[in-house]
Amino acid sequence: MATPSPAARSPAALLALAAVTLIIPLATAAAAAACSAADRDALLSIRAALSESHLGVFSSWKETTDCCSGWYGVSCDPTNGHVADLTLRGEADDAVMAPSGRPASGVMSGYISDAVCRLDHLSSLIIADWKQITGPIPSCVAEDLPYLRILELPGNRLTGEIPSSIGSLSRLTVLNLADNLLTGGIPPSITSLISLKHLDLANNRLTGHLPGDFGELAMLSRALLGRNRLSGPIPASVSKMPRLADLDLSENQLAGGIPDGLGSGGHVLTSVYLGANRLSGRIPASLLRNSGLGIVNLSRNALEGDVPDVFTPESYFMLLDLSRNRLTGGVPRSLAGAAYVGHLDLSHNRLCGAIPAGPPFDHLDAESFGGNSCLCGGPLGKCT
Ligand SMILES: *[C@@H]1O[C@H](CO)[C@@H](O)[C@H](O)[C@H]1NC(C)=O
Repeated sequence: MATPSPAARSPAALLALAAVTLIIPLATAAAAAACSAADRDALLSIRAALSESHLGVFSSWKETTDCCSGWYGVSCDPTNGHVADLTLRGEADDAVMAPSGRPASGVMSGYISDAVCRLDHLSSLIIADWKQITGPIPSCVAEDLPYLRILELPGNRLTGEIPSSIGSLSRLTVLNLADNLLTGGIPPSITSLISLKHLDLANNRLTGHLPGDFGELAMLSRALLGRNRLSGPIPASVSKMPRLADLDLSENQLAGGIPDGLGSGGHVLTSVYLGANRLSGRIPASLLRNSGLGIVNLSRNALEGDVPDVFTPESYFMLLDLSRNRLTGGVPRSLAGAAYVGHLDLSHNRLCGAIPAGPPFDHLDAESFGGNSCLCGGPLGKCT
């Protein structure tokens, strides 16, 4: 406290000052700590719809205590006292989940109550990896939780569709609904999620096409949509995403070509998984020329034409799997000059000719090249 001004030296003024300095912090501290009755009732309704008996994650959720202090998985915004985060993870290593110190794995059943939408200051909602939680994603989350930044509900048995108005969550940075039983399409409104950095919808039963303007998601760094039933083309706009690092569309029913220019936008793209689709046409040269790419898996498609001969001494592939396509021509000479190729699979294509010699090929065995038309040399033995 600074030296009081002369005016503040009178006893009354000092008393008032003391009152102000004492009472205001007490009042704000009380407001920060106390859970509002509305938030507490919403949490109790959420608990009532779920059941978890083994670990007792809800044993700290007692009606008589303050939900902002000591309720497992609940935390409040200290400035307004509203519940800001609800985090319940079925795979965790904290003291409640793993009293023995070993990471524990929990099971919870029931459903996610609409009551979550009454926690209207929620910034993150994480109910992950409980394996037995069923029912739909309450569609009200998209309408009633405008402050939501993180929505993670993976590893349950959620059914129904992704709420069509999901695009209203303008602050959303993480949307992870992977490993559920979700059906229906990817809502077109998803491309309105201008803050989205991480989208994981992998391993569901999603159908329909990817929105044509998917590439509008300018902040998106990870797009993980593999192991669904998506059909139609890979939108050309995907090749214009400035921050895209990881793209996984594998194990769907996507058809048409790989967009020209994919991988040409700088060096942020590091992994591309497009395996086990129905992709046809040629492999864009831009993809294999990109020296930032460490993982490319295009296996199990109907790709044709040559493998572009565009590798450089900077090419560094942990994984390059082009197996089970209809590729013709030879093994590109420039690949022999790559800095590193960890796992190469060119098997089951229609390649022909001599396998070039070079360090990246020294550790590879015949399996990398088997099932082609007329390859020879290297691990396949002398060309005759
Ligand atoms: C490439 O992707 C396909 C389809 O997802 C998968 O079956 C295969 O195991 C992957 N290749 C490697 C080497 O991981």
